[in-house]
Amino acid sequence: MSSPKKLFIKTYGCQMNVYDSERMAEALGPAGYTEVSSPDEADMILLNTCHIREKAAEKVYSELGRFKGLKAAKPDLKIGVAGCVAQAEGREIMERQPMVDMVVGPQSYHRLPEMEAKAGRGTRVVDTDMPEEDKFEKLKGRPRAKRGPTAFLTVQEGCDKFCAFCVVPYTRGTEVSRPVDRVLSEARDLVSRGVREITLLGQNVNAYHGQGPGGRDWGLARLIRTLAEIDGLERIRFTTSHPNDMEDDLIAAHGDCEKLMPYLHLPVQSGSDRILKRMNRSHTRDSYMRLIDRIREARPDLALSGDFIVGFPEETDEDFRDTMDLVEQVNYASCFSFKYSSRPGTPAADRKGQVDPAVSSDRLIELQALLNRQQQAFMQNMVGREVGVLFEKAGRHPGQMVGKSDHLHAVHVEAEGLQPGDLRRVKITSAGANSLAGTLL
Ligand code: 5AD
Ligand code: SF4
Repeated sequence: MSSPKKLFIKTYGCQMNVYDSERMAEALGPAGYTEVSSPDEADMILLNTCHIREKAAEKVYSELGRFKGLKAAKPDLKIGVAGCVAQAEGREIMERQPMVDMVVGPQSYHRLPEMEAKAGRGTRVVDTDMPEEDKFEKLKGRPRAKRGPTAFLTVQEGCDKFCAFCVVPYTRGTEVSRPVDRVLSEARDLVSRGVREITLLGQNVNAYHGQGPGGRDWGLARLIRTLAEIDGLERIRFTTSHPNDMEDDLIAAHGDCEKLMPYLHLPVQSGSDRILKRMNRSHTRDSYMRLIDRIREARPDLALSGDFIVGFPEETDEDFRDTMDLVEQVNYASCFSFKYSSRPGTPAADRKGQVDPAVSSDRLIELQALLNRQQQAFMQNMVGREVGVLFEKAGRHPGQMVGKSDHLHAVHVEAEGLQPGDLRRVKITSAGANSLAGTLL
């Protein structure tokens, strides 16, 4: 038998890419590849790229430039570009970068072994099809190796919302949900290999409508409640959600499904109705606020997180004040905020009224300062409280373990004998800038 080949994958962007990278590594297993942590020794390098904000393609080209020496020293080295930049700019990448052997879009990962074989015969391959078939169905069952206590599981891909700033509907395609039995069997398999917490992933995960037994349509809440019946699976999370798909049964699940953790990422993007309309968000500030009230009624201690964009075309100071005001009213546990970046091919890209970048920068600084204060206050508020912590790995000094709280805070605990995968009650004793410390109960 030939010696195992080495695969190095560099992942950019969201958790969906992290999950896809795992699946790509698994897909290439039967072709003789095992994953390594450095490009220097690799026989294949894959860049799993993100296209959500600007300079994505430039980052890819400069990263590729760094591999030039490796390719010169090892002509057999195969280099592939995967993910959303591959989908958006596949042919251009091939033209601009002759050392790239394979370009593979997010819906074609199951074809990687064939592409690798072709590349081995000296053929450069681009595959950015968006076939009807579910790529995960084509990827064989996951290998049986033991896993850490947490895992991602993609249940839904793509987006039909077409927010005016966003490339996702173009790079990931329309909304597609995986069938219920596939998701359940993958979850059971993960749990049998040591996983205790699963985060269900989708670009619009709460728009999940998978085919259940008897061809019936299952929503996300039903899927979560059924996953919660799996012995050994202790925690369930999901991300990312759109406000318009927060259906009643999903809100209710936050109140009565114990394994569903009290954390929700629910982006609103702006607090101004004028801008929300121009963004094509199809919800208003008021409908978002009413939704938050209902979710908090179901689960009062929920940690809420969101995404914001400042400097969207035509955003005035007054619109920005509305965003600041919404943030004050909602009070977030954590948040991601970005300067608007114009993405080619999206409806907002060529609009009049692009905001001066210096103004956007000032707005971002002001917004982030407020969000940061709220995050710190939320963490301070945890001091003295008892929370569940799922331990994941050893801390920096001996005897210290780090895990995640129910509310997704990193928690450090000094205690002998704790193992990754232990789920324990912890009393929080102090809050730092990015993590909490506590003692076992
Ligand atoms: N410019 C800035 N931020 C963007 N996002 C998506 N597209 C853009 C863009 N063109 C942000 C949104 C989204 C998050 C994943 O990235 O806030 O929710
Ligand atoms: Fe992009 Fe909007 Fe879809 Fe989210 S909901 S992926 S921001 S188009």
